[in-house]
Amino acid sequence: MCGIIARIGEGDAITKLVTGLENLEYRGYDSAGVAIQNGSGISVYKRSGQISDLKDTIVGNVPQGNVGIGHTRWSTHGSPTDANAHPHTSETDQVAVVHNGIIENYAELKEWLKSQGHEFTSETDTEVIPHLFERHLETEATIEDAFRKTIRKLEGSYAVAALVDGVDAIYAARQGSPLILGLDNDEYYLASDVPAFLDHTDKVVYFEDGDVAVLKPNGVTMTDLEGNQINRDVKQIDWDPEDAGKGGYEHYMLKEIYTQPNALSNTIEGRIQDNEICLEDFPKGTFSGIDDVHFVACGTSYHAALYGQQMLNRAGIRAQAFRASEYVGSNPGPVSDKTLAIAVTQSGETADTLGALRQAKSQGARVVTVTNVVGSTAAREADDSLFIRAGPEIGVAATKTFSSQAVTLSLLALRLAEDIETATPPEDKAELLRSLEVLPENVEKLLTSTEAKRIASRYAGSKSYFFIGRGLNNAVAKEGALKFKEITYEHAEGFASGELKHGPLALVTPDTPIFVLFNGENDTKTLQNAKEAQARGAPVIAVASEKHSSADIADSFLEIPDTHPVWSGLLANVKLQLVSYHAARNLGRPIDKPRNLAKSVTVE
Ligand code: F6R
Repeated sequence: MCGIIARIGEGDAITKLVTGLENLEYRGYDSAGVAIQNGSGISVYKRSGQISDLKDTIVGNVPQGNVGIGHTRWSTHGSPTDANAHPHTSETDQVAVVHNGIIENYAELKEWLKSQGHEFTSETDTEVIPHLFERHLETEATIEDAFRKTIRKLEGSYAVAALVDGVDAIYAARQGSPLILGLDNDEYYLASDVPAFLDHTDKVVYFEDGDVAVLKPNGVTMTDLEGNQINRDVKQIDWDPEDAGKGGYEHYMLKEIYTQPNALSNTIEGRIQDNEICLEDFPKGTFSGIDDVHFVACGTSYHAALYGQQMLNRAGIRAQAFRASEYVGSNPGPVSDKTLAIAVTQSGETADTLGALRQAKSQGARVVTVTNVVGSTAAREADDSLFIRAGPEIGVAATKTFSSQAVTLSLLALRLAEDIETATPPEDKAELLRSLEVLPENVEKLLTSTEAKRIASRYAGSKSYFFIGRGLNNAVAKEGALKFKEITYEHAEGFASGELKHGPLALVTPDTPIFVLFNGENDTKTLQNAKEAQARGAPVIAVASEKHSSADIADSFLEIPDTHPVWSGLLANVKLQLVSYHAARNLGRPIDKPRNLAKSVTVE
């Protein structure tokens, strides 16, 4: 969803900018660019394509200068062309700007600027910013005043970084799009996300909406939009730079699948003590009085929310998972201070989810966010946060964060089941928690097998792929299908097992392999559904533990370790992630950056 970076300090900026962009490429990869200021004009290099294409453009012509800005783009206004790539410059090239977000009033600003004789070279909304800034430089007393005046004119969402020719400084502002300041000893960074500069520093300041900053070689000043000085706390990030690299794996996605045991251990750590749940800011009794839960989320996070909903429903708690984009502007039923809204978002920056969070909050709900990113917008806007602690996820397709979200939401559900008077906590809670503690080990076990790779090859070239499961496994079936389609570009759908016969069965043929998830709950019914598909010629791939003999009818078998039915789906999901990965790899797809997609979707 566009990534920006900026750097000022001793020595040339270009290498750090380009490496930073590579670490942000998951946010968008249809064009990229950099601008460097060195006292003799601003050099701009930009083009459509990936960062590697930008690097080819720079080779042999490396721009020198200690201050610069960079951008990797996921198009929202205008197609991915060289002209539409950022940075954008002003009429006389005095100003260069990178921007993440959407300027909603750009058309009217552009009209006015055109009437004043400004000429535009791109179709983007961003280009109005450098033009306005340059105009205000002529009329305002200081560059800072001109920048703030420019920012005050913008409506919409933005993280902006700007350079002015001949000035050793970066001007930055945030409204609605993430922007983080990185503080090293003698250099300063700005970026949309921490991995951009994590190799250099782990000390950060999160911008809040309305913050404006000026970075100079000797320090950073922050003000509000009116110029009043503000102070923000410096935070220390506990992510290791290693976590943000590929660590020897062919793709980030593969690394993120294989490091799930570690991610899950971090998610669980300290949260189960003496067979009791210990959730940092949510001690026993936190949720007494709550009588209804709304989950709001998108994509994979929505599937994790469905998992959470099932966990609550099992305890007799009224709960519903909503797609955030549908929640916004709709009437989801009564919302009051007895409603708990849980915003589930890996990035904490997804616009649809933030919209739903804000709506629930404005209607009086108590809002908790379950996120991976400390300091994200969702974490700051919610009343409370629960972090999934999965570490940075770079592959666009979410993998380890789904597992960590589902576990975190299950723990939260168990806490709610204890707190809500009318709820029925599970009778086998001790067993449930014991088997959760060995979940990382069980994931480790299943990662050693090569079955998933074999299955991916065996069913390659099929017309369509179906995934079915019941109860908690319905969420996993939907997630399995989403992962498969997004990285293979093949058609896949996930259904509740029992729904197959109510329509989708019409599509079933010998050319539609069907992955069937068993977990020991209602398996007989699921088996019946599998047989209905098999009778129409569909190959059945059972995803189950060896113990579930109901899988005997299957044409192929993806074995998972035996565990409590509640966690079984999470093991099945890892197997399905591997099937999707290998299927996509066989097809030569760009696994970490599927076409048309971006991580962290900051538009509605
Ligand atoms: C799919 C995927 C997306 C995200 C969705 C929400 O693999 O990653 O469907 O889950 O865009 O993103 P977050 O969780 O950051 O709100």
